[in-house]
Amino acid sequence: MDGNINKTVIRLEHIGMIYKTGTINYEALKDINLTIYKGEFFSIMGASGSGKSTLMNILGCLDQPTSGKYFLEDEDVSTLSKDRLADIRNKKIGFVFQGFNLIQRLSIIENVELPLFYAGVPHKEANIEAKKALRLVDIAENKENNFPNQISGGEQQRVAIARAIVHNASIIMADEPTGNLDSVRSNELMSFFKKINDERNVTIILVTHEPDVAAFAKKHIIVKDGHIVDN
Ligand SMILES: Nc1ncnc2c1ncn2[C@@H]1O[C@H](COP(=O)(O)OP(=O)(O)O)[C@@H](O)[C@H]1O
Ligand SMILES: [Mg+2]
Repeated sequence: MDGNINKTVIRLEHIGMIYKTGTINYEALKDINLTIYKGEFFSIMGASGSGKSTLMNILGCLDQPTSGKYFLEDEDVSTLSKDRLADIRNKKIGFVFQGFNLIQRLSIIENVELPLFYAGVPHKEANIEAKKALRLVDIAENKENNFPNQISGGEQQRVAIARAIVHNASIIMADEPTGNLDSVRSNELMSFFKKINDERNVTIILVTHEPDVAAFAKKHIIVKDGHIVDN
């Protein structure tokens, strides 16, 4: 058992999200209450349109809820300014997106340095940390100066993970990261998440609608029509 196991990383209290489009209000999340502890590997499942990405965007400090409170490592982030929110996001959270979103005009190493650049880390130190992260995901040193289109899909996937973990984020969030992958690659990606979770005690929050993928997580919630229906 890990000493950190009961440390709360995320606490949502009565979170609601209403999207306003012209005169139409759409209630995408209703009274979401959720606690996530340090080192948990957490999956969020649910049908398309149920509110998974809306929830993930709030958890990832990409969007603010319209009601309720969000405590991230005990700080109330539900009312912070956009700049302050971006700050917290850059320091604490790593993202892995569907399709990986590597920047094509930057080399592999530059892609991985990017979150550190945003966090204001000097380039020399960023370079050292990026190299470490790439070694951790088994990307060879002689590939570092390649561009994303010069490495395989499996390697791109691992670079995306290196980018997500390079700033020692305490939380990794992935929204349908296996959406474009065949089952072999999807298992490979999930094994990397598992490794990071096991070895670094990083909290992982994963949105998926694939039960095989969710099976890698240790805890599960299901979202339906903006509610958590199973916990
Ligand atoms: N920016 C937005 N403006 C208006 N409605 C939105 C917006 N984003 C999502 N929605 C609506 O909110 C609901 C939940 O969307 P989303 O969280 O993307 O679902 P999921 O990720 O589970 O497929 C959907 O009905 C969607 O159409
Ligand atoms: Mg979605």
